[in-house]
Amino acid sequence: MPNTTSDVPMIEARGVVKRFGHNVVLRGVSLSVARGEVVAVIGPSGSGKSTFLRCLNHLETIDGGHVAIEGEPLATTDARGHCRYVPDAEVRRICAKTGMVFQHFNLFPHLTVLENLIEAPMVVQGLPRAETVARAEKLLDKVGLSQKRDNYPARLSGGQKQRVAIARALAMQPDIMLFDEPTSALDPELTGEVLRTMRELAEERMTMLVVTHEMGFAREVAHRVAFMDQGELITARPAQEFFADPGHERARAFLEHML
Ligand SMILES: Nc1ncnc2c1ncn2[C@@H]1O[C@H](COP(=O)(O)OP(=O)(O)O)[C@@H](O)[C@H]1O
Ligand SMILES: [Mg+2]
Repeated sequence: MPNTTSDVPMIEARGVVKRFGHNVVLRGVSLSVARGEVVAVIGPSGSGKSTFLRCLNHLETIDGGHVAIEGEPLATTDARGHCRYVPDAEVRRICAKTGMVFQHFNLFPHLTVLENLIEAPMVVQGLPRAETVARAEKLLDKVGLSQKRDNYPARLSGGQKQRVAIARALAMQPDIMLFDEPTSALDPELTGEVLRTMRELAEERMTMLVVTHEMGFAREVAHRVAFMDQGELITARPAQEFFADPGHERARAFLEHML
């Protein structure tokens, strides 16, 4: 029975295990994200942040634990440790609830900005072109790039490319947005415009999970901060609280290094 009550977590990960060969990169990661919540994921390089995000929308498969999106199981593990995914069509339907933004934009270089935005809604959702164009134009206006509509990505700055990438993810009308270091590839003077776009999205109550090194963003925009280290999610506490007292030695050491 589909769960429709609003207190069902938008994202629920429980005991998620991920191995690459013999390398265990997620060692039982648990995190629950509520509707409209913004959670920043921080931690040293190699701690498993990207892998965790990718496990939530099936860019990686998990080896143990449970993942559910809006109350719908994506993968579950039985008492004998066998991890099972729901059928492919269900996986696709459930993963369509999440949109993802990557460090390196991943725009289609041979398509204009507008074409980048309408491609998936037309091909994946099967919507008529006119409808996808109208939606895309609204989104370009929202991220302040209407005037770049007919440009190719190569003509844009990094900050503009990333705002297009955000608009492109939104064009699929996701309920949840996953960001993997969206400003890490940008020159410092370009991070502000991208963070501003993300802040606006947060103000509209989008559910967001954001891997970031931007401590200012984590402190001001995120409701909670999750700290990962060596494949474990060590703590996820309210942002104010976390920055006042991370509560764990490894988190404190990381924070001192970052600030
Ligand atoms: N596709 C992969 N194949 C093998 N090992 C991987 C792969 N992706 C990530 N890893 C390993 O998993 C660990 C966690 O990586 P990652 O999730 O990228 O960390 P973070 O995003 O926190 O820097 C690292 O040791 C990394 O080398
Ligand atoms: Mg990463």
